[in-house]
Amino acid sequence: MKKKGLPKVGIVMGSDSDLEVMTEAAAVLERFGIAFQMTVASAHRSPHRAAAFAAKAKENGLRVLIAGAGHAAHLAGALAAHTPLPVIGVPIDSSALRGFDALLSTVQMPPGVPVATMAIGKPGARNAGILAVQILSLSNRHLAKKLADFKREMAGKVEEKARKLESRPGS
Ligand code: RP5
Repeated sequence: MKKKGLPKVGIVMGSDSDLEVMTEAAAVLERFGIAFQMTVASAHRSPHRAAAFAAKAKENGLRVLIAGAGHAAHLAGALAAHTPLPVIGVPIDSSALRGFDALLSTVQMPPGVPVATMAIGKPGARNAGILAVQILSLSNRHLAKKLADFKREMAGKVEEKARKLESRPGS
């Protein structure tokens, strides 16, 4: 589906090397027809760019931020420090520790500055897209209906798998 209008979701990643993972979030938003913007900003390598992006995000019309970063991943938290918008963090498995470092760095925020932290890597990026849709659907009935269809379709696929497996000889 084509995305319409001004971006409602900002997808920020620590490096362009995170793009393959973060494309999963973008694909979900595209499926739901939600306009988004993507950029690169790093909490450590370009802290001023990251802070400025977050500080302007709300007045630029964004409603949710998704931040993906690897290693000692402080991007989601650094954005959350500069915006009242909900921030969804995606720990990226780009380090020798395969994202466990990024998971802890993203999820262990101090009280007062939450980051909704997803699973490591592509499944987390996909869930970040879905969570952004869920947040936006609270104030958009059309989107809420699409989300309900999506969940029904997902449950239907499980039913189908169960039927197939149960109809195997010996089941
Ligand atoms: C993190 O370091 C980025 O989010 C990326 O996951 C990782 C590696 O970055 P590059 O060295 O590929 O730019 O900050």
